[in-house]
Amino acid sequence: MKLTSIYDTYTLNNGVKIPCVAFGTYKAAQGDNVEILKTAIESGYRYFDTASFYGTEKYLGQAVRESGIPREEFFIASKMWKDEMGYEEAKEAFLRSLENLGMDYLDLYLIHWPLPEPDCETWKALDIETWKALEKLYEEGKIKAIGLSNFLPHHIENLLGNCRIKPMVDQIEFHPGYHQAAAVQYCQEHEIQVQAWSPIGRGRVLEDAMIVRMASKYGVSPAQICLRYALQRGVIPLPKSSSPERMRQNQDLFSFEISKEDMYRIDTMPQTGWSGEHPDRERVRF
Ligand SMILES: NC(=O)c1ccc[n+]([C@@H]2O[C@H](COP(=O)([O-])OP(=O)(O)OC[C@H]3O[C@@H](n4cnc5c(N)ncnc54)[C@H](OP(=O)(O)O)[C@@H]3O)[C@@H](O)[C@H]2O)c1
Repeated sequence: MKLTSIYDTYTLNNGVKIPCVAFGTYKAAQGDNVEILKTAIESGYRYFDTASFYGTEKYLGQAVRESGIPREEFFIASKMWKDEMGYEEAKEAFLRSLENLGMDYLDLYLIHWPLPEPDCETWKALDIETWKALEKLYEEGKIKAIGLSNFLPHHIENLLGNCRIKPMVDQIEFHPGYHQAAAVQYCQEHEIQVQAWSPIGRGRVLEDAMIVRMASKYGVSPAQICLRYALQRGVIPLPKSSSPERMRQNQDLFSFEISKEDMYRIDTMPQTGWSGEHPDRERVRF
């Protein structure tokens, strides 16, 4: 499918259409105000990725309301945090998110991590209980699509063997230098749409010599190479920026195409810019 703008969509496995680029809201309300989010709406973004953990839900809700643009024109996604897992806990977490946002439905709701802690021995049962709550909320029509974040194939297998409704999305760390090929392949084989968090490696891959050379070759910025790489792998990037210029630049991804050879070069570059986060391990701090 040829994508031509951030408003083009993928179709999730339940038929819901999801825009091919989102705006990430982690740290997008610093100083406790809505200005960055309002600017992101003005610059054209309609798909926003938030989470209870980010503290941005209420600012996002305010920015959406004050934009004057109908709620239905937005695609709003949130996630429950690690300490909100469990059947009742997940339902309560969802209601808190709705209240923070001041909305009566979500387009997408995700389980943020498969394990509350890497050494959690009861994670399989906990994931199933949590997922059952999402299935219920989905069936009640309060969420248009439900999914996962940071789930690897073995975590997803546990759910697939025990759920009625297949997850529609998995949001994982994905950028040049850390593209989790096994997880992406698994999701794509199971019709689970992959999304890229930290699609530009939170800035950590922008000075990689090969990425810089490619940016110059295609006449774009290193960040645009990272975002275009995600699109060409069928992955939805969720870039965050606080600058209007970079917000616009991060939407300008459709007038160039990375060649097959260069895609393979990015696929096979050494690990670069990994956040240090892995659901089954303690966080590595660099
Ligand atoms: N599910 C999860 O566990 C998880 C984890 C992390 C993140 N996320 C989601 O993914 C979103 C994006 O990830 P992220 O915020 O970690 O990182 P990111 O989007 O990869 O990078 C954001 C950083 O890159 C800079 N930047 C943005 N556009 C740029 C450009 N065109 N040129 C140069 N620098 C640019 C930003 O600076 P300025 O702001 O100064 O422009 C910011 O410092 C988050 O906001 C969140 O919604 C999810």
